[in-house]
Amino acid sequence: MRFSQFLLGAAAVLPTLVVGQLSGKVGPLTSHATKTSKKTCNVLDYGAKADKTTDVGPPLASAHAACKSGGTVVIPSGEYAMNTWVSLTGGSAWALQLDGVIYRTGTAGGNMIFVGSTSDFELFSSTGKGAVQGNGYVLHAQGSRTGARILRLNKVTNFSVHDVVLVDAPAFHFSMDTCTNGEVYNMAIRGGDWGGLDGIDVWSNNIWIHDVMVTNKDECVTVKSPSKNILIENIYCNWSGGCALGSLGANTAISLVHYKNIYTWSSNQMMMIKSNGGSGYVEDTVFENFIGRGNAYSLDIDQYWSSMSAVDGSGVKLTNLTFKNWKGTEANGASRGPIKVMCADGAPCTDITITDFSMWTESGSKQWYSCRSAYGSGFCLKSGSGASYAATTSTVSAAPAGYTAATMKDDLKTAFGTTLSIPIPTIPTTYYPGATPYSKIAGT
Ligand SMILES: *[C@@H]1O[C@H](CO)[C@@H](O)[C@H](O)[C@H]1NC(C)=O
Ligand SMILES: *[C@@H]1O[C@H](CO)[C@@H](O)[C@H](O)[C@H]1NC(C)=O
Ligand SMILES: *[C@@H]1O[C@H](CO)[C@@H](O)[C@H](O)[C@H]1NC(C)=O
Repeated sequence: MRFSQFLLGAAAVLPTLVVGQLSGKVGPLTSHATKTSKKTCNVLDYGAKADKTTDVGPPLASAHAACKSGGTVVIPSGEYAMNTWVSLTGGSAWALQLDGVIYRTGTAGGNMIFVGSTSDFELFSSTGKGAVQGNGYVLHAQGSRTGARILRLNKVTNFSVHDVVLVDAPAFHFSMDTCTNGEVYNMAIRGGDWGGLDGIDVWSNNIWIHDVMVTNKDECVTVKSPSKNILIENIYCNWSGGCALGSLGANTAISLVHYKNIYTWSSNQMMMIKSNGGSGYVEDTVFENFIGRGNAYSLDIDQYWSSMSAVDGSGVKLTNLTFKNWKGTEANGASRGPIKVMCADGAPCTDITITDFSMWTESGSKQWYSCRSAYGSGFCLKSGSGASYAATTSTVSAAPAGYTAATMKDDLKTAFGTTLSIPIPTIPTTYYPGATPYSKIAGT
């Protein structure tokens, strides 16, 4: 289990120990307090001004150069403009303390903040008020989604990102790829109501993502290939696209992923595994304690996903996937039933388990379950293993027992759209009914 001493800040025992699908410890090796006492590089001493006009990019790059071999780069509270992007690579044992708010003013693509090839790293806000306002609506209102991502981590080892808020990215909000031993927690991500504005995308090894809220209309917290040992817990998709694995293409390699305590409201799906052709595997993965309300799809495995152009290969092989304790309601079960398992005919799914699954429709009085080329146990899955088979659909017209589930109060009632400025939220103190965040929210 996690060391509760972590909550004591300077006295923290690092890195964090966890159980579950992880392969070992996650998080930075030294606390930010230790780094700060070694060296502090305040961007105000490198030319930054909290005037919402002066470009914080070059001062941030200079402060990083001075502190990247051991120290803390500080962006104090205040409002900053960012006109040029930073690439913070190399070094180790450093932290980035974002207590101010950075407003995007530049228009380039790429990544506003890129952190690469470093270890023992922490990005955090000491107040919980540190944020990046991507002002994506300025571009989205003109029909463009080609601007910058807010944050990308690449080849970062032994790290954490926490207690920061990312708002209205021109493109994606946060992607993490080819990273190892990371922890991401206590975050609010709030973007426009549009596809292509992903919340968190991860393809990495040994990563714990927990206590995160995402509002947008695309990926909530999504795992891509290659990934191994990923634990995703206490996630609130508060009007989103929903969580997913994918899109999956050639040579997919995903194993030992565990999604747990996922609350999804007004999204495209509760969980989707999406591909169209391709090869490789997804295996040994668990999806448990899901609550859904007002979503289009619920469990949606679609290996003929028409939004993706077909990739060479007979299909990604899905094996040993367990869906357990799913409750709640879907928007319209007669048009989009709560169980859709469409596996590739060229690579039928095996050892799929759907258990303790009870969902019902919010409109009408019918819903369907549909399976194709899928083997395992539960609902429309065929037992054993074998050849491909055409989709079989069963329709039920009575609510299953026990579908009601606890709800989050204050679900987002109206989307933020794409043409007006999106307000910066505070970090929520709960992400799943009855689950307490693992770490205290900074500033509370
Ligand atoms: C990451 O941390 C582990 C201990 O948890 C350590 O064995 C490993 O060497 C560290 N990697 C780097 C690149 O510092
Ligand atoms: C199925 O996956 C679980 C982890 O999700 C693992 O513990 C178990 O050993 C796997 N079963 C087989 C038969 O590989
Ligand atoms: C859901 O999102 C909306 C908009 O960000 C926010 O006002 C509301 O408080 C969120 N719900 C919870 C329970 O945090």
